[in-house]
Amino acid sequence: MKQFKIFVDGNWIDTEDKLEVLDKYSQEVYAEVAKADEQTVDKAISSASSAFEREKLSPAKRYQILHKASQLIAERKDELAMLITKEAGKPLKQARSEIDRSAETFLVAAEEAKRIHGEGVPVEAASGSENRLAFTIKVPVGVVGAISPFNFPLNLVAHKVAPALAAGNAVVLKPASKTPLSSLRLAQILDEAGLPKGLLQVVVGSGSTVGNQMMKDERIALYTFTGSAEIGLKLKQDTGLNRLILELGNNSPPVIVDKEADIDLAAKTLAAHSFAFAGQVCISVQRIYVHDSIKDLFMEKLKEQISALKIGDPTDAETDVGPMISEDEAKRAEEWIQEAVDNGATIAHGGKRNGALLEPTVITDVTKDMRVVCEEVFAPIASVITYNDLESCIKEVNQSDYGLQGGIFTQNIDTAFYAAKRVEVGGFMINDGSQYRVDLMPYGGVKDSGNGKEGPKYSIEEMTEERLIVMNLKE
Ligand code: SIN
Repeated sequence: MKQFKIFVDGNWIDTEDKLEVLDKYSQEVYAEVAKADEQTVDKAISSASSAFEREKLSPAKRYQILHKASQLIAERKDELAMLITKEAGKPLKQARSEIDRSAETFLVAAEEAKRIHGEGVPVEAASGSENRLAFTIKVPVGVVGAISPFNFPLNLVAHKVAPALAAGNAVVLKPASKTPLSSLRLAQILDEAGLPKGLLQVVVGSGSTVGNQMMKDERIALYTFTGSAEIGLKLKQDTGLNRLILELGNNSPPVIVDKEADIDLAAKTLAAHSFAFAGQVCISVQRIYVHDSIKDLFMEKLKEQISALKIGDPTDAETDVGPMISEDEAKRAEEWIQEAVDNGATIAHGGKRNGALLEPTVITDVTKDMRVVCEEVFAPIASVITYNDLESCIKEVNQSDYGLQGGIFTQNIDTAFYAAKRVEVGGFMINDGSQYRVDLMPYGGVKDSGNGKEGPKYSIEEMTEERLIVMNLKE
């Protein structure tokens, strides 16, 4: 069994108390990780605060470290991908793509480190201020507390750590307790890339212990969190006036297939976007609104595409859909399917569970109050809902507490823009599923899906303070 230590104050620390990380496919213990107790978390935060005060890295130095980290991630792709496959149950080909994306996230953050700047402020235009000159500079906020989810154990960590370091901050990271291994490897990589000791701390433990302690610590200036709306709300309540970047859930996401859609493209894309990583992605397609006139053809093609997906062992390079993060989660999803069926829904495809593996499932005849429709399902389940009139369809789409990303398939540009302007989301895709994300783009939702944007350029905005400097000149 593999043993992992945590990374505190620039040292690898072992503890008596261990956290077991399961291989999510075999359900056997894959690794043991040292668990941080209260004193260790305290030490991590104080070491991060001192490192922030001590290490004032130039943008060029930050660029070099992050660029090197990006290279090391790419070089270790095979090892890191397999680690993600084991700890998260993510199919190897999707894990490999996550490694490519993580290297890209570090590279973009490295480049952005060189572009952090303020702006001139024309204070001389105000009467009585004629001899003044003003501009702003961007200064790091201090210690960033990062709390990351299980579904992208490396790249969603990269989206917090890389921009925080690019902006000149120190970071205390609590990775998801089900998938902490790749973040510990990342700490090793950043150490090798030359990150000064103390600028990154990785503390492992549960949300109710380590997470809670971090939330209450005033030395943390900004929290960046990806996870459920419920925890996001708690974080908001517990962290007072501290800054917060919240990437929360989505019920997810509405994609409209218009009567003028390329149906082959829509079916192929939506089969992939609904079931990748067993639907455990905040932007997985959950509600597919199909125009009544094309429903039968669309369903036929969608089922054809889903039948071609390979389900099973995530370490097999051909697998498309692997296990969910735990058997309990798969059981919860199965219950939601059953509840929908009990209330009149029809399973058009899939629906069966074997341990943590749930078949890609398509449900029709749903109503908007069913949990598979109105709550974040976070499982390989998509509902197909028909509509006749786009205006009322969009009204229904917007009757959601969430709004992260959405999309439409149509070959009519006017219809596409009509929808893009009205669907209440942070990002809208035309002729693509909602699960489109590249790492340089702004990513974040509206309503209960959170606030603040990720994407290195946008996170750096959030992770810096704008300071105004005014000079009183003689002349
Ligand atoms: C998420 O689940 O929010 C992340 C999606 C992604 O980065 O592709």
